[in-house]
Amino acid sequence: MTDLKRAVAVATEARNHSYSPYSHFAVGAALKLKDRDVYVPGCNVENASFGGTICAERSALVAAVSQYGKVPFESVTVVTDTNPPAYPCAFCRGVLSEFCGPELVVYLATPEGVKITTTLGELLPHPFKLV
Ligand code: THU
Repeated sequence: MTDLKRAVAVATEARNHSYSPYSHFAVGAALKLKDRDVYVPGCNVENASFGGTICAERSALVAAVSQYGKVPFESVTVVTDTNPPAYPCAFCRGVLSEFCGPELVVYLATPEGVKITTTLGELLPHPFKLV
C-alpha cells in the first residue's frame, strides 16, 4: 500500500468513529509523522454545547502530541464524503500552525482517494504568532 493510500485508509477508518449526531457530517483525519511510518488518526467529536465540538484535524493533532510530543509532522489527510472534499476550518488551520510549518502537506480526500493536494502555507499564509 502506498503512503497516500495508507493515509486515506487511516483517516477513513477514523471517520467511521466520528461522533456527529448534530451535524451528521463525519470527518476523519490522519496526521503523518515526518520520517516515521506513523499515521495518527482523528475524527470529529461533537458536543451538545456545539462549542465543545472538536474537529477531526485537531483531534488527530492532540492525540499525536499526547503520544509523541512536539515532533515534526509531514502531512495531514482529511477525509469527508463530499464533492469537492471539505477543507480544514480556519480554527484547525490556526491550531495546526502552532505545531506545523507552511510546508505541511494537506491532502483533501474522500474514502476513494485524494482529490486535492495543498499545503498549510497555502491555506493559512499569515498565521498568528504570539511574539
Ligand atoms: N469539522 C471537522 O471535523 N473539520 C473541519 O475542518 C471542519 C468541520 C466537523 C466539525 C463538526 O463536527 C462538523 O464537521 C460540521 O461542522
